[in-house]
Amino acid sequence: MDISGKIEDSYVSLFGKKSDIKIKAPGRINILGEHADYNNGFVMPSAIDKAIYFSIGKREDSKLCISAIDLESYFEADNINNLTNKLNDWSNHLVGVILEIQKLGFGFDKGINVCFGGDIPNGAGLSSSAAVEAGIGFGLNEIFGFNLGLLQLAKVAQATEHNYVGVKCGIMDMYASLFSRKNNVIRLDCEKLEHDYIPAEFKEHTFILVNSAVKHNLADTEYNVRRNQCQKGVEVLNKAFGNINTLRDANFEQLEQIKADIDPITYNRCKYILDEKERVMLASEALTQQDFEKLGEIMNQTHQGLSKMYEVSCVELDFLASEASKIDGVLGSRMMGGGFGGCTLNLIKKEAEADFREKTKSAYQHKFGIIPEIYTANLSEGVHKIA
Ligand code: GLA
Repeated sequence: MDISGKIEDSYVSLFGKKSDIKIKAPGRINILGEHADYNNGFVMPSAIDKAIYFSIGKREDSKLCISAIDLESYFEADNINNLTNKLNDWSNHLVGVILEIQKLGFGFDKGINVCFGGDIPNGAGLSSSAAVEAGIGFGLNEIFGFNLGLLQLAKVAQATEHNYVGVKCGIMDMYASLFSRKNNVIRLDCEKLEHDYIPAEFKEHTFILVNSAVKHNLADTEYNVRRNQCQKGVEVLNKAFGNINTLRDANFEQLEQIKADIDPITYNRCKYILDEKERVMLASEALTQQDFEKLGEIMNQTHQGLSKMYEVSCVELDFLASEASKIDGVLGSRMMGGGFGGCTLNLIKKEAEADFREKTKSAYQHKFGIIPEIYTANLSEGVHKIA
């Protein structure tokens, strides 16, 4: 039985009837443009075929009942229109979405039952949280007929992270989960919140994820620190030149001119963001032209930037990226997502896949005593209803 079927079975045994709706909400990869979203830059994500599945149905009373199958945990509240969030609890990802929808002025005429679970590895930087938020928002929108658009649902999910989870994330993850199309990469302008699609169905190349199995615990706090460091740079730049609201508005000459007025760490953070802004343009051109050598080269540069300038990598990710570069047929390798653990994204020739998997596993096991999980990233459709 597939995962959705298992989730539905749990729903039926827990709530005694079938759900009203079943939803699939995918995780994502990001080809390039890392830590660019909250600096209003461009990013290049796509949903993948790892997802969170939901069964959702209305209740007769006003209770909210949620069963997190993978966590073997259950949450219940008496009145869906009078919810409070619990500190540091998984339920905030769903409760927060309901609270954010209510802030928009919508009420719930009935309570709901939810069962959810999936196959996005936790803490692997594949955005399982965004998938949970995007999926529950999408499902509630369908069931209650709120008529929210996908962009509003992405904003609701992002606000949930900010207000109830405590991560001041950008909008990339939820946007990718909601807007993706099979075999396409999204090129998202995070300032205008507009996107186009770059077709990405390849004959001879593929994206492979290697999970370092390092959970990015540090990420949440360090992530917010990075945001503040960028903001610090923006303040000095804006004072000097005006009209600089985010690092998107700044250029290299301006950064060099204020170099003496900022500390070296702030400089490095800003420099990385400006470099990445340039790289993402080149990468989207390379992807459009299917120039894989070029794209791989840019991915490698991004890894160096994330590791040395933005300092969000770790020894395990650096090791994986460096080992990958030694394997024939690997065109690019970099840490992906927020950092401090999670996966590397590798662009490789399909013919090299078996060799890549074997060498990567054995090198990583030899060095860290862990056999890493390796997944092919199939570019998939965004959040949708399933039959
Ligand atoms: C996390 C955040 C995203 C983005 C990436 C880094 O996944 O949730 O908004 O900032 O890190 O690119």
